[in-house]
Amino acid sequence: MERNRFADRVAIVTGGGSGLGRALCYAFAEESASAVCSDINIDTAKETVSGILNSGGKAIAIKTDVTSDADVIGMAKAAIEEFGKIDILVNNAGINVRQGLLDTKEETWDKMTAVDLKGPFLVAKAVIPYMMERNYGKIVNIASVAGVVGCVSSAYTASKAGLIGMTKVWALEFAPYRICVNSVAPGFFATPINEALRKSPLGEKLAKQVPLGFGKVEQIVPVVLFLSSSESDYITGHCLVVDGGLSGTRDFGPEYWGFDKGKK
Ligand SMILES: NC(=O)c1ccc[n+]([C@@H]2O[C@H](COP(=O)([O-])OP(=O)(O)OC[C@H]3O[C@@H](n4cnc5c(N)ncnc54)[C@H](O)[C@@H]3O)[C@@H](O)[C@H]2O)c1
Repeated sequence: MERNRFADRVAIVTGGGSGLGRALCYAFAEESASAVCSDINIDTAKETVSGILNSGGKAIAIKTDVTSDADVIGMAKAAIEEFGKIDILVNNAGINVRQGLLDTKEETWDKMTAVDLKGPFLVAKAVIPYMMERNYGKIVNIASVAGVVGCVSSAYTASKAGLIGMTKVWALEFAPYRICVNSVAPGFFATPINEALRKSPLGEKLAKQVPLGFGKVEQIVPVVLFLSSSESDYITGHCLVVDGGLSGTRDFGPEYWGFDKGKK
């Protein structure tokens, strides 16, 4: 079934030059939204936009480092100048480092939290006033299952748990303006961010431990689009976990599952 939920909507996606962000820009544009593809890497952002323009969609690329207040203010202004409004914001840009606490240098903590936690904070501050003017908005923060159960690294888990927390505060603060704010907490899904891990023996082992295996971008995109659409108008402050069962289960191994073999 063809859908067209975003005709006349303007959607900003941070980190739109790769992985989930690129797939989201394509998906919004496919349902007639004007996509604002922002990324620190302008070349990949432009590639995303070319793909959209070549299929007859509307999109612009904006170079934005989400850790820079000046950049994100410029991004919001550029979106307004081009399309006149902002309806949807997906805070998607993110980085990660898999590292134990004792190996984590202060610079690593600062960089990770700057992109994954301060970034969405700055972007929301720059964008929300435009949504308030029109009493309408949908914000989806791309967190991680790491913010729900604790994995990957202290800095990543702290950032993503913080993002899930900020989501709840913003939902309260901006409900009077009909701005819905939700987060999505994906488990592992295949993108450039985890290519090396997926191809390693550890990655293969991890994939086996997730009840539904490693996910695909196509399994996350529809969830983000749902939370960006009018289908979710009565949902705000929620964290939707999309992790193939990873956080809800612990695999105790074959010995456990065979525990009652032979029992009548
Ligand atoms: N892939 C997974 O398994 C997984 C799981 C859980 C959560 N996530 C989250 O999903 C989001 C997207 O991840 P992905 O897998 O598509 O990663 P990705 O590496 O493919 O894409 C991330 C994008 O963010 C951009 N970016 C990085 N730093 C930036 C900055 N300072 N300013 C602006 N843009 C910046 C990169 O240039 C890149 O285009 C991230 O927030 C990530 O933490 C991913």
